[in-house]
Amino acid sequence: MAGQKQQAFTFAVCTFSFLVAQATRIAPVGQLFVYELHREIYQADFNPVSKIYGSVHNDPIVFKCNKQFFPDLPRWLRFTQRHPYDNGFLYGTPQEQDKGKNIIEITVINKQSYETFGDVLIINVVPPVKKMPYQAEFFVPRREIEKVLPSSVQDEIKRDIQRMWGTEELDFVNISNALDHGGRVPLPLPGHFEGVYVKLGSEKFYSKCLLDLQTPQHHKDCEALSKVPGRKFIKLPGDCSTCSDTSNCVAWCKSTLIDLSHPAPPPPAPTMGSGILEAGQDYNPPESPPPRDYFPDYIATVIIPFVLAILLCLILAYIMCCRREGVEKRDGMTPDLQLYHHTTIHCNTTELRSMAGVREGVLQPLSTLPMFNARTGERVPPTQGLYPTDSPHIPLIMAQQEPNVDPLPRK
Ligand SMILES: *[C@@H]1O[C@H](CO)[C@@H](O)[C@H](O)[C@H]1NC(C)=O
Repeated sequence: MAGQKQQAFTFAVCTFSFLVAQATRIAPVGQLFVYELHREIYQADFNPVSKIYGSVHNDPIVFKCNKQFFPDLPRWLRFTQRHPYDNGFLYGTPQEQDKGKNIIEITVINKQSYETFGDVLIINVVPPVKKMPYQAEFFVPRREIEKVLPSSVQDEIKRDIQRMWGTEELDFVNISNALDHGGRVPLPLPGHFEGVYVKLGSEKFYSKCLLDLQTPQHHKDCEALSKVPGRKFIKLPGDCSTCSDTSNCVAWCKSTLIDLSHPAPPPPAPTMGSGILEAGQDYNPPESPPPRDYFPDYIATVIIPFVLAILLCLILAYIMCCRREGVEKRDGMTPDLQLYHHTTIHCNTTELRSMAGVREGVLQPLSTLPMFNARTGERVPPTQGLYPTDSPHIPLIMAQQEPNVDPLPRK
């Protein structure tokens, strides 16, 4: 078992060094560069032993790519992988300023076992090898970028365009997702694609077919077509718009010719405005504005409200404490209102009590009669004492009264 592991380890190391040694690519400036990350190769690296015994694994594998010592890829290089069961692609078109050696680190992650594996790709961006002054960009609406990047599909598309251009001398300049050109994400339904822009270049001038793309008639046709929803293709005259595979057909209205044979005139030199210093002159900064006096603002915003608040406080305090009715005039004519009330209530009560005392022997009002005589303890039958016997009013409470529910203590 240990021996097998050792063998697997040495095998992995060999494969790794083999890949490191092999993965060097040259990318000429201005030409499309595509590097396909084959899942099968890395799958074999994850299971070197099974490779020996011929068993086949198909694990989901994803790739993470970055420039060495950097978090992301170089500006010109893009990575795409639609699905963990699809191959990944590194692609892009280097420019003049991208020349040099790019070390790309590729981390391969097996999503089944979560094993990871590191790989390195060296891309040497070299000066342009071909001149391609005549370029054209074609829109292929029924494709997705991952379906166009494999070299077989690239060749199919190139062959169609070679026929149209009338030359074999064609090279890819760029292949890009229509989403990068402001395209919209399609519905996730069969028959809906993102679309791909394919840019090719040649040293040979455009054919008659391609020049038709620039005629006013073509623009007029496209304008008319844009008003008809759902129609994307327009036939070019003759046998121009032939496509061997319907997926590769080109939408002519979104295709353009890019003529780089006449270098663009350099932008006009900037015109100097006024206010430019003569040589040797010192910069004289403008005077700082005069200091502003903030005292009036301070008075208006802080002092005045503060004084007003204190004044209001004082007035309120005076009203609350010193102007209470009666307090000031206690020894004057009117007595304190509260005291007055108190005295009158007190007087009235006393008066009433004395009146009640005078009433001895006189029949007390019924409402003042207790139910029993407190002194003798004798109970006055309510029907007798309170109500006349002939009264038609027998209160309900009498009828309901039970003898053992009597709350009053008996003596
Ligand atoms: C290629 O296409 C991409 C995406 O639209 C764009 O950013 C890039 O500048 C293009 N490169 C060239 C050389 O045209």
